Amino acid sequence: MSYIKSALLDEKGYAILDQYDQSQDPEEWHDLEYVDWKSSGVTRFAPLASAFGETEANGFWNHTPPRTDKDGVWIQSQVAKAPRLVARAQEPGANVGRCRVIELQPNEYASTLYNMHQDDNNRLNPDGSGWIVRGFFNLSHDPESFMTLREDRFNPATEIRIPLPAGSQIIVDTQRFWHAVWHKGPHPRYSLITSWESGPELDAYIDKHHGTNQITNPPLDQAFIDGAQLELQRRLAERAEALSAHSRADAADPKT
Ligand SMILES: [Fe+2]
Repeated sequence: MSYIKSALLDEKGYAILDQYDQSQDPEEWHDLEYVDWKSSGVTRFAPLASAFGETEANGFWNHTPPRTDKDGVWIQSQVAKAPRLVARAQEPGANVGRCRVIELQPNEYASTLYNMHQDDNNRLNPDGSGWIVRGFFNLSHDPESFMTLREDRFNPATEIRIPLPAGSQIIVDTQRFWHAVWHKGPHPRYSLITSWESGPELDAYIDKHHGTNQITNPPLDQAFIDGAQLELQRRLAERAEALSAHSRADAADPKT
């Protein structure tokens, strides 16, 4: 057995859909209730669907009983404020896990590299079912900001940068890629993030919106990349030193 995956997503790990006319919709994300939730960078989240319908953003596996990122429960107070966002998340007809709007403050490229991570969407997902992937619908207009993906965290040659104008619609296998958003600002970025289960419904949705995995990376100066790589290494070394100092202090101060 193995997981059911979308052929297009499986080939390169991402799909870019037709751009949506975001300007036709009310800016519902400004009406939602946000909770502090640290993700990649300085962030808050407005959950629309959560593990048990509470306004919280934790992974479904951190609840009792723990479960995978499927069967999210819609939060009625939030749904009432953002019916259009909910309709867009439900349009594929695929199983929805977590669904939320992220608010991300501006950051720098080196911080983006430092914040890169792989998601854990498929924890507890049984073999033979659909692989969980994530939709990112940019709500604010951030054409100079990028969804930044790397197959190899430390190899800039594997980097893919997808611009984020309002209405951009991307689906990413976030468990496969190291990823974070490089958001240049000056205002916060808002994006609707939905966990979907792969399968025929999601495939049909990707087809309907002309999904493609062909993109030419926007150019980025090599010296700038090299500088950010050095800064990444410096920050990682700094963190490793801080962690090691912490554990030395623990060892010197045994708890009884
Ligand atoms: Fe992530």
